[in-house]
This record gives sequence, C-alpha cells and structure tokens, in this order.
Amino acid sequence: MSWYSWWTGRIRSDANDFTAVGNGRPKVALVVGITGIVGTSLANLLLKPDAPGGPWKMYGVARRAQPKWFVDRQIEYVQCDVLDGADVQTKIAPLKDVTHLFWVVWVSRGSEENNCADNGKMFQNVLDALLPNAGKLQHVVLQTGGKHYVGTSSSTWKSHGNEPPFKEDMPRLPSPNFYYTLEDILFDTVKREGVSLTWSVHRPNVIFGFSPCSLMNILGSLAVYACICKHEGLPFLFPGNNLTWEQLGDVSDADLVAEQELWAALDSSAKNQAFNISNGDVFNYKRVWSLLAKQFDLAVPDYNGQPTSLREAMKDNGPVWDGIVQKHGLVPTKLDEIANWRYVDGVLNTSLLGISSMNKSKELGFLGFRNTEASVGHWIAKMRQERLIP
Ligand SMILES: NC(=O)c1ccc[n+]([C@@H]2O[C@H](COP(=O)([O-])OP(=O)(O)OC[C@H]3O[C@@H](n4cnc5c(N)ncnc54)[C@H](OP(=O)(O)O)[C@@H]3O)[C@@H](O)[C@H]2O)c1
Repeated sequence: MSWYSWWTGRIRSDANDFTAVGNGRPKVALVVGITGIVGTSLANLLLKPDAPGGPWKMYGVARRAQPKWFVDRQIEYVQCDVLDGADVQTKIAPLKDVTHLFWVVWVSRGSEENNCADNGKMFQNVLDALLPNAGKLQHVVLQTGGKHYVGTSSSTWKSHGNEPPFKEDMPRLPSPNFYYTLEDILFDTVKREGVSLTWSVHRPNVIFGFSPCSLMNILGSLAVYACICKHEGLPFLFPGNNLTWEQLGDVSDADLVAEQELWAALDSSAKNQAFNISNGDVFNYKRVWSLLAKQFDLAVPDYNGQPTSLREAMKDNGPVWDGIVQKHGLVPTKLDEIANWRYVDGVLNTSLLGISSMNKSKELGFLGFRNTEASVGHWIAKMRQERLIP
C-alpha cells in the first residue's frame, strides 16, 4: 500500500477528525497563490477524487489571468491582487463558503522591511475580508520556509544557536523576517474575541516542483538552462560554488509540501503547530547535475570550482528561448518568467546548506517522504508533459 493510500484511509476513517472539519459538509479551499510552485500541487492534490477531506471545492487566487497550462482544472479562478485592499473586498469577501485558507503566496520587495510590510498587508487584507463573511472558516495553512531559522543574512543564525538540523522550536532571530510578520498576524487573529480558528505553519527548504509563475523555481530554471545549453551547443557548466556541488543538504518536493499542508488542515494532532517539511533524504547538486544532464542528453563538464552568475550569463538569451519555444511548439513563456536566475545564483552560491528535522512531523503522524533523485525526474517529466520544455 502506498503511503498516500494509507494516509487517505486513515483520514477517512478518523471519525473525530472528519466531523471536526465540517460535519461531513463539503470543504471549500481558498488557495492564495494558486499558480505558484506549491499552489499548483495543492490544486492537483485537493481535486483528486479520493482527496482526504474531500470532495473539495476550490477557489484559486493569482494576479495574472488563468494561464493556458492551468485551464484544465475544476477551480473557480479568482484574478485578484491581494495587496490591493479594495480588490480583495470586491473579489474575496463574497466567498462566504470558504472553510480552509491556504497561504502559498509572497511578493519580493528588495528589502526585508518592505517584504514584511507588503506580505503582511496581503495576509491581513485577506483575513479581514474572510473573517466577517466566511462563517465556516476553520483552518489557516500558512507556508513560510527554512529562512525562519537562518534569516536573510548568514551572519546571525549561528550566533543564536540555530545550526542544522533545524527544529521547529528554535528561537527567532533578532532581524526583520516577513515569515515572523505573517506568523504574528496569524497568532493575533486567532486570539481575537469571537474567532475560532485552527492554524498550521509549514517551513519547506528549497522546493522542487513545477510552475512557470513562481518567483523561486530552481529545478525549472535549471531545466531551462539545460535546454539553452543543448540548443546553443554550450557546455552544461555548474554555476555554483564548491559547497553546493559537494555538500549534502535537503530539499522539499512541492507535492509533499501540499500533502503535509492538507494533513495539517484535517488532522487534529497537527492543529496549532509549526512544521518543517523536507523530503527526508539528502542530496547534493553534483548528483542533481548528472541527473539533469542525462535528462537533456548533455555531457557533464569537469567542475572547475569557479562560480559564475547565470543571471549574467543568461541575460541576453530571451530571443534564444523564444526560438526554442517556437521550434518545439511549446506553451508560450518568456525567459524571465519561467526562469529565476537571481534566485538560482543565490541558492547555488549559498554559504549554508540547510537540513531540517522531520521528527516532529513524523511523531505527530505525517509519514510522507520523497526520494529526491526521483523527484528530479518526476518534475522534468511534468514540465515536458505540460509542453513547457522540449
Ligand atoms: N519556492 C521555493 O523554493 C520556496 C522555498 C522555501 C520557502 N518558500 C516560501 O513559500 C511561500 C510561498 O512561495 P512559493 O514559492 O510557493 O510561491 P510562488 O511559486 O512564487 O507563487 C506565488 C503565487 O502567488 C501569486 N501571487 C503573487 N503575488 C500575488 C498577489 N499580490 N496577489 C495575488 N496573487 C499573487 C502568483 O501568481 P501571480 O504572479 O500571477 O499573481 C503565484 O500564483 C513564500 O513565503 C516563500 O518564501 C518558497
């Protein structure tokens, strides 16, 4: 029996949980960030015919119009900018049947202070629209990440004792972090008089998944880099530093993150808790590089220990990508949309590879895992199936 069917059966047979999450009434998810790297996985998971807690009705929110690769899903798509309070009042306040909010969205604003301001405002806007209107709202899933433990600069985490493996009860760092802002908004909200809500916080590390609408999609970006190398006859050079080439770290498969979020939304043992979520194994980019090279029929050049910036190297390749899209009849995407070079440069040149403990999650009942090497092949196949890469 697969872990998924075991888990599905467990949730279905847990009468207490089932009644607690809605007295058998249909669950209604509001996924803010529906076209993002985890939003897409939540859409696929919740709309499975055997999804735990289902059948689910789903509203999905993003700013851009529903993308072509996303149309084939039974979702009520809500095009809304949640930073705009008036837009939220017009489009989200009327969604009175929402029972579960999934927060898998963020905006990047150049400084952490600005990230705190705008991401906080977005979250507050949506909570303010739902609380007086969605009387059946029961649970809020808040996705943040491993930066909870290390912050945005590498200088402070060690001095506060936050060394890997990261554990959920490690202290916050004394520097601005929009994850703390989001948590504080959530904690203040659930304490408000008359509010009866449960919550869960989910902290993935770097996510492997599928979405051309993501601000941080390392595997998708590297697949695009491989396609460009192949098309242009360039060597598939590893652009990162020695540490990421050699050392072991962990990552989080987007489907696994979605599974943990759904588990926490339904299972009473997971209520009002923060959880790490990573695959449960370790990998290094040396191995990922050879898997990627195999996928695209490329040779792996000797690693020369010289980091290079893909942001710099790829900056004039927009027309090359347009040519690849046209040649292979792919779903139209722009290079600066499907690939996030600045993010790739950051991840592959980090001075710290995180490893998060999954013990708390396992001890409370979530036993999901992913084989990271299989995850690489899975997501490349998915990108091909959706005609995003050749
Ligand atoms: N990706 C990773 O590797 C990773 C790793 C660890 C932690 N995290 C954390 O996970 C959280 C969620 O990030 P993610 O990477 O899953 O998101 P993502 O892939 O970047 O997707 C963001 C989604 O939100 C939508 N969106 C952005 N701004 C919006 C707005 N103002 N109003 C409505 N929709 C908006 C985007 O579509 P439109 O652009 O069309 O609006 C997209 O659907 C963040 O806190 C992030 O730091 C991510």
